[in-house]
Amino acid sequence: MAPVTECRVCGGTVEEFLDLGRQPLADAFLLPEDIDGEYFDRLAIGRCTTCTMVQLTEEVQRERVFHDDYPYHSSGSSVMAEHFTRTALGLLTTELTKPDAFFVEIGCNDGSLLRTLAESGIRHLGFEPAGGVARLARERGVRVRPDFFEESTAADVFATEGAADVIYSTDTISQIPYVASLLGGVDALLSPDGVFVFEDPYLWDVIEKTSFDQVCNERFFLFSVRSVRAMAERFGFDLVDVERLAAYGGGMRYTLARTGARTPTPAVARLLAEEGGQAELKALTDFAASVTRIRDNLIDLLRTLKADGKTIVGYGATAKSSAVTNFCGIGPDLVSFVCDTTPAKQGRLTPGVHLPVRPPTAFADPYPDYALLFAWNHAEEITAKEQEFRAAGGKWIMYVPEVRVL
Ligand code: SAH
Ligand code: TYD
Ligand code: ZN
Repeated sequence: MAPVTECRVCGGTVEEFLDLGRQPLADAFLLPEDIDGEYFDRLAIGRCTTCTMVQLTEEVQRERVFHDDYPYHSSGSSVMAEHFTRTALGLLTTELTKPDAFFVEIGCNDGSLLRTLAESGIRHLGFEPAGGVARLARERGVRVRPDFFEESTAADVFATEGAADVIYSTDTISQIPYVASLLGGVDALLSPDGVFVFEDPYLWDVIEKTSFDQVCNERFFLFSVRSVRAMAERFGFDLVDVERLAAYGGGMRYTLARTGARTPTPAVARLLAEEGGQAELKALTDFAASVTRIRDNLIDLLRTLKADGKTIVGYGATAKSSAVTNFCGIGPDLVSFVCDTTPAKQGRLTPGVHLPVRPPTAFADPYPDYALLFAWNHAEEITAKEQEFRAAGGKWIMYVPEVRVL
């Protein structure tokens, strides 16, 4: 596909600053017989010279990604499951106190967040186009509409069910390139004093941690407070609150309300000032240089360990690992397999480099000498449960913010 040089938010010019080369779809885990039809595209990101939005400069069709077999299950991490439960319980005492409040989630996946609200009897609806996870959500008592959230589907819900008091979305808005239709949908469905809240990886955390593996061809945007505010204002909303989150390898929760409906909290000005103090363009160019350094160091380390006869296994078949393994060229010659708790990924091959994915039991049978931690955003949870691996002499290899052995 031709490179996208026009900003998806404001139409300004996007200048590319990082090219991760030819990449598969980060969540496209393959059956061995499907290798031949594998889809590849160039993966590169740039920054809009007008509104500063950092975004992909290529575009994959959404149906290619969010299909019936979409393998990502929100419930795969107990830490995230707790985050969703806490978020839902918090909303019950803040935004959802009025009788018959209506809550809409964009990208409800297997219902990890909505189940808590469903159990509390809140009127709700989850938009989830990926059939497999949508069915799981239904089994958990969640009301699901198996569609993409966009202007037409949102308007349809408004016509039949009335306005939403809260529209919420976690780790999804940055995966939606059709911004005008998305925010047109929010405009069509949100009540006059309602809020649109979304949580996504935060640009400055990605830069600080050099976590270039957050870049994948499913995530069109890396949001900052500055760029989200510009986006909100362009489509008739104010950015009224922001909150940093430990989740998503460093995320931000953005709260939007209709223009003039709510007074922004001091956090918005504070974070804008913090971002304003950063030389963004230089930071992005330095980031691109660090990414190349990480690639060289990681490949050196893996090759040296293999030359010494060590065994290396990947831990967590994350979407993130796709960018790293494909950019660095880490195939089965360097990493024997990847263990992962998600049943839908097990028995398949990782995209592009084709590392076999096995269940967690394979990790201990026997323990490898080294484990390359692809799910580094869950490091605490994983190192706590894998203490026996350490006790057996096993070592963790980390690659963000730099390559090191622990
Ligand atoms: N909210 C979950 C899932 C994030 S993955 C979590 O935080 O764990 C992104 C999800 O959004 C996928 O389940 C995908 O199918 C869904 N999605 C993608 N585009 C969407 C759209 N336009 N409307 C609603 N859901 C969408
Ligand atoms: P996730 O954090 O969503 O990263 P990405 O968005 O890059 O895919 O995915 C975490 C993956 O790691 C998921 O496939 C489940 C797996 N996992 C394990 O195998 N063991 C664990 O203990 C945890 C927490 C996750
Ligand atoms: Zn722009």
